[in-house]
Amino acid sequence: MCGIIGYVGGEDGPDAIDVLLNGLSQLEYRGYDSAGVGLANASLSVHKAEGELSKLRSVLPTESLRGGHTGIGHTRWSTHGPPSNANAHPHTDEDDRVAVVHNGIVENYQALRDELVDAGVSFESETDTEVIPHLIADSLEAGDDPECAFRRAIDRIEGSYAIAAVVDGVDDLFAARNESPLVVGVGDDGHYLASDVPAFIDHTDRVVYVDDGEFVRLSATDYRITDADGTVLEKPVETVDWDAEDTGKSGYDHYMLKEIHEQPTALRQCLRGRVDELAGEITLTELSELDHDGPIQFVACGTSYHAALHAATVCRERGLHANAYVASEYAADRIPVGPETLVIGVTQSGETADTLRALREANRAGARTIGVTNTVGSSATRVCDDVLYIRAGPEIGVAATKTFASQQIALTLLAGQLNGGLSYDAIEALRSVPDQVQTVLDTSRAKTVAEELVGSDAFLFIGRGLAYPVALEGALKFKEITYEHAEGFAAGELKHGPLALVTDETPVFAVVTGDGETARKTISNIKEVEARNAPVVVVTDGCSEAERYADYVLEIPETDDIGAAVVANVQLQLVSYWVANRMGRSIDKPRNLAKSVTVD
Ligand code: F6R
Repeated sequence: MCGIIGYVGGEDGPDAIDVLLNGLSQLEYRGYDSAGVGLANASLSVHKAEGELSKLRSVLPTESLRGGHTGIGHTRWSTHGPPSNANAHPHTDEDDRVAVVHNGIVENYQALRDELVDAGVSFESETDTEVIPHLIADSLEAGDDPECAFRRAIDRIEGSYAIAAVVDGVDDLFAARNESPLVVGVGDDGHYLASDVPAFIDHTDRVVYVDDGEFVRLSATDYRITDADGTVLEKPVETVDWDAEDTGKSGYDHYMLKEIHEQPTALRQCLRGRVDELAGEITLTELSELDHDGPIQFVACGTSYHAALHAATVCRERGLHANAYVASEYAADRIPVGPETLVIGVTQSGETADTLRALREANRAGARTIGVTNTVGSSATRVCDDVLYIRAGPEIGVAATKTFASQQIALTLLAGQLNGGLSYDAIEALRSVPDQVQTVLDTSRAKTVAEELVGSDAFLFIGRGLAYPVALEGALKFKEITYEHAEGFAAGELKHGPLALVTDETPVFAVVTGDGETARKTISNIKEVEARNAPVVVVTDGCSEAERYADYVLEIPETDDIGAAVVANVQLQLVSYWVANRMGRSIDKPRNLAKSVTVD
């Protein structure tokens, strides 16, 4: 996830450099490990810097860039190559004729890069994006006009993208979209495009949403959107009703709610290019030669520990010897570890001190280590032998939401790769998860349930098998942002003590999916709490027996147990959010907590 912006204005319009820098500051929530701008003034000039946008501002010769009215900008969240000046966008061809910004992943970049290298092109970055300006330059060299050269380059790219390009000596700007957001702003003084409306909301509230497979050409006085064949499309101009305060949150009241709603996109991004439905194969290119038959240990903290529990269960279901450990207890518990062990650290930030210490200890014991993280260039990527990225994009809310869902999916893929692939049905189910999460987001009754239950004495969450980590995560999220007492239990443990807590003032959330033995046993536990008059909320994929004992039902689409664990959790995220919202809590920054815990 990165942010892109483009602008073409007339002589009376604002300077491109101001539009781009203001726009990028509104897009920094999409990534902030480097930033850059490309301006087509008298000649094409590109400026970029590793770090936050403030770093770019401090090195820009801003005054000398005034007077230009065409430009592109980018704020980066690394996917290929760590944060650095060289890997920052825009990328250019060797002669600096073309500059390109890109949000997404070019899946066939290695093949394109090999082909270009064979043709004598030298690359300056490790990014997938850099192939694009070289392809455009090739076509310009062959005599194509700029628009045709741009289209030819895009035709060769596979993957997801929102791309914008400027060409030296050309006032217009070219863009294309496939599965990454892109919106055009129609202004009185020029035209804009960006990953998200906030980037240009100060200039215009009239927008045209670009769809997959469409191309855009912007000039100061006109914009043109065409399909893959070049046919001009008449698309509606919509007026957005946002004020400046809403902007970084794209109209949501909180980053957490926005990030909950970003989950379908995050999960698609996590799966992209990694599963082959027909062959049942999983390709995690970061982890080539992953051949391991010894014990597997997952280490993590908090929400990531719940993802680790999910992963260990998925591994064991596939006959692998796997366990999950709370990272801060790893040393104290004297967990046996040696060269035969594979230790997988799960940490979205890649900076959690407890997890890093456990990983270092595993390294010292000679174990192979893998870091599963969202953060390119983080400490975990340096401590571990290998890295698997979850590709969730930046998460601003302190409470982890989309990173947890992406961890569940990435770790399931990892378990599959460790076990020689996943079945056709399992892959099919995984690929459906993003759509199923979307269905829950569109239809959830969580807000109503939250309104009914707010003010209760305590909140209990139960589940079995893969629903057990979901129960733990449901309770953690709930206590974290509502400050109310919430506990998660293995459903079968209720009768061994926690049942003493149950009254008509303690709602119990039970996650029950499928119709097998696991579901039947959880239903028995639901009866135990129902008999003690606890309000029962079941999260289920249509288990009618469970629904019989429920006061409230939060439905999820039917799927396998892995998909259900991801989707059911989304219902619980929404319940926590709406209770906290109703209580007026500081949802994005809960008291006493920090996003990245770098101390013991
Ligand atoms: C809860 C939450 C924390 C983190 C934990 C580990 O919403 O976000 O429990 O999961 O601090 O953080 P990472 O994954 O960065 O290692």
